[in-house]
Amino acid sequence: MTSRRVLITAALPYANNHPHLGHIAGVYLPADTYNRYLRLVGIETIFICGSDDHGVPITISAQKENSTPQEVVKRYRAIQERGFSSLGITFDHYSGTSTCEGHQELAQEFFHKIRERGDIEEKVTDQYRCADCDMFLPDRYVEGVCPLCGANDARGDQCDACGGAFEQDLLIEPRCVTCGSSPQLTSTRHWFFRLDRYEERLEEWLESREGWRDNVRNFSRGIIREGLPARSITRDLEWGVPVPLKEAQDKVLYVWFDAPIGYISFTREMFKERGQEDEWRSWWSDEDVEIVHFLGKDNIIFHAVIWPSMLLGHGDFRLPSSIPANEYLNFKGEKFSKSKGVGVTAEQILEKFDADRVRYYLTAIAPEGKDSSFTWEEFIQRNNDELSDVVGNLAHRLLTFTAKNFDTKVPAGAESSAFHDEVLRVVSSAREEWSRSLERQRFREALDRVVTLARHGNRIFDAAAPWKSRKTDPEGCGGDLAALLELVHAVSVMLLPFLPVSACKMAATFSEAAASPQESVMELGKVCQLQAGATLFPQGILYPRLELLDEEEESAS
Ligand code: 2FM
Ligand code: ZN
Repeated sequence: MTSRRVLITAALPYANNHPHLGHIAGVYLPADTYNRYLRLVGIETIFICGSDDHGVPITISAQKENSTPQEVVKRYRAIQERGFSSLGITFDHYSGTSTCEGHQELAQEFFHKIRERGDIEEKVTDQYRCADCDMFLPDRYVEGVCPLCGANDARGDQCDACGGAFEQDLLIEPRCVTCGSSPQLTSTRHWFFRLDRYEERLEEWLESREGWRDNVRNFSRGIIREGLPARSITRDLEWGVPVPLKEAQDKVLYVWFDAPIGYISFTREMFKERGQEDEWRSWWSDEDVEIVHFLGKDNIIFHAVIWPSMLLGHGDFRLPSSIPANEYLNFKGEKFSKSKGVGVTAEQILEKFDADRVRYYLTAIAPEGKDSSFTWEEFIQRNNDELSDVVGNLAHRLLTFTAKNFDTKVPAGAESSAFHDEVLRVVSSAREEWSRSLERQRFREALDRVVTLARHGNRIFDAAAPWKSRKTDPEGCGGDLAALLELVHAVSVMLLPFLPVSACKMAATFSEAAASPQESVMELGKVCQLQAGATLFPQGILYPRLELLDEEEESAS
């Protein structure tokens, strides 16, 4: 067997944000599901994340609350870790760019190595400076009209409306975010990354990426074809990684330069903590490792164009194998926005509903390929119509029938029947499709395969009507039932990456009858897995129907 290792990262959230369900659905949940799936099928993985501590938004937050960036980072990092773990999103390491041991040095090493190649140039440029605030205004301190699409709320060097990136001085009608006054262009020295030198290699690399989502591949290739201007990678700020040059006192590296380096420095920190100091390097340089970056669509340009250029410029590390970027999950048709009070955080929804219910709905409507929208009615409906009425009902009906008629044991007599072969065929093909979808990072489709299998199981159960044959042909009835129990077992195993708590409970029904899920997943549908005569351990109603609570009803209407 050829070895395969997968290094999974999820975009580092800024350390001034509560993760909302839009972030969860687009980035962290699919990454976690992918990690769980790979581990289930026996592939070695590491799953890395942490907070993006250095951006200007953090300094703005600190200023607003009269505290320090360090305090803001500390508080939000704890909030993020709690939020993720309450949803079962389980990283191997969650660090942060301002505290990770060795992060600063590695970011400075990237700067030096790229500069040694001659790919970083120095220029004196005009930058906005706010006289009232007495400071240069990098990136998000300035807002204005986007020079590319005309949207009114472009931020500094980036426009969310069109996804474009540009140099700050192109922004139309600039205004200072802090005080609203018009900033003045003032000259200052900065260092620029010559991305044009990487165009050919990037184009070749992107062209060879088969199976990538169109939004990532086409968008990036389009940008490269237009020509990549040199991008400024330093800022006049105090908070960040210091630019490692004597002549650049009081300047730091641009947050987007140091943030993705966190993927590497966090990996190194994790292995060091585990006492395996040198292990990190093989994960970033060996050919058998696939590096997979999960992110939202606003991060595509940075991960598919700028980050690969940085990796090429550094020279020691491999390029990403895939960059599954999602579109946006909206809230009742509107963009999630804390300031406008639109949306719901992980904390809020978990006060009322179990994590697996949230995971179920967010995967069922995952914004893969196009934007999707969260609504409370649909949250309840999808959970009830699918998890309760199809999956939970199938398990409940079969196990109740087995308890009543077969003493809660796997009946004998399955292997020989045509019915059993047919059920195994159905399971086997569902398992193949499930696996194919998950390998292609199509989580919504993969989850649908499992529900469809359960739906199929209900239909087969109805058609076989073992309650009729129970008296006339108890052996045949037992055989049919055993075959259907194989299907329920398969459903429980295939749900594990999506619904870690409840699917594990469902799989526990078969703890005596089947091997562990890890052992059995590869064989699902190919062989009889359940041992005749083994006791089953039904877990009660797994997915009781949900009801809208008053508050949600109000906000749903
Ligand atoms: O958009 C964001 O939230 C950024 N903090 C993502 C950074 S991802 C990576 F490069 F670190
Ligand atoms: Zn100002």
